[in-house]
Amino acid sequence: MLVLGLESSCDETAAALVEDGVRVRGDAVASQVDVHAEWGGVVPEIASRHHVINLIPVLQTALDRAGARLDDVDGIAVTRGPGLVGALLVGVQAAKAMAWARGIPLVGVNHLEGHLSAVWLDGAQGPGFPHLALLVSGGHSELVIARDHGVFEVLGATRDDAAGEAFDKVGKMLGLGYPAGPVIDKLAQTGDPKAFALPRPMRGRGLDFSFSGMKTAVLTIVQREGVPTGQRLADLCASFQASVIDQLVRKTHAAIEQHHVKQLQVAGGVAANRGLRAAVGELCTSLGVELFVPSPARCTDNAAMIAAAGYWRLQRGERADLTLNATATLPLSEPA
Ligand code: KG4
Ligand code: ZN
Repeated sequence: MLVLGLESSCDETAAALVEDGVRVRGDAVASQVDVHAEWGGVVPEIASRHHVINLIPVLQTALDRAGARLDDVDGIAVTRGPGLVGALLVGVQAAKAMAWARGIPLVGVNHLEGHLSAVWLDGAQGPGFPHLALLVSGGHSELVIARDHGVFEVLGATRDDAAGEAFDKVGKMLGLGYPAGPVIDKLAQTGDPKAFALPRPMRGRGLDFSFSGMKTAVLTIVQREGVPTGQRLADLCASFQASVIDQLVRKTHAAIEQHHVKQLQVAGGVAANRGLRAAVGELCTSLGVELFVPSPARCTDNAAMIAAAGYWRLQRGERADLTLNATATLPLSEPA
């Protein structure tokens, strides 16, 4: 079954053709990073307008790369939330128009479910069920038990900023541009993670996260001594990253013990972080837990993961009609 995935929830316009939920035949992503960089974050209205411009060329590129035509498509999966409503609507309307005009089955997908479906792409073996998932992106940080494709139980979530959001906000304070996660990741490689004593909050057994305190701590340092440069900037990035990773790993460890899981997947944009990948690797080795992490390119927003998630829903006979709509908030535990 060849599924066309469309993704436009934030600042990436993406289309992909995926066979049987696992084999990526062709995909394309148009990033708007340059457009939003001068604002230090995503401007929703500008994002919507660029999705309108980019969607058809991105779709055509994905079809060309797959050597396919719209007539070959057996189902369309589109992100319906969570995200920026104006941005989501561009993908949802395009998907509905194509599904209606060509009589192709349509299904709406939760963006977070998409992230949790990337792990099976590109011929990866992927985890079985149930398994634990650490989902860390620009908008969400959650620990989730995946019971089946599309069936989740949320164990804990951030009480304030998402992990990626904290990376981006700290990066903004340090003049590192947007998105700052990959830049901090790179600088942290040459920094000393013990150079700055940043807070290590949420020390109890609960599974929620909080990242705003460490962000404030970085702000206090910048107010006291200005934006550091050279080695000191690398040290601050390494110290901040270490405190984020410390909390993510501690909570993941607690969830593994409390829920007796034997497999873990880490997903979302922050899962591309080298320090986090190494730290969860060590944790899993020490606990005898099998670890699954998508390739860095499949961690950040893409449409192949949406097509993959949609495939399982289409397989179960799920169909959306033309009342399908975009929604800004959409919990993972809610059925699509
Ligand atoms: O999953 P994603 O592409 O979009 C959302 O659904 O939010 O995640 C984007 C987030 C951004 O905050 C970005 O800074 C962060 O992921 N990110 C990283 C890295 N690559 C992307 N954070 C830390 N290290 C990275 N290498
Ligand atoms: Zn995402």
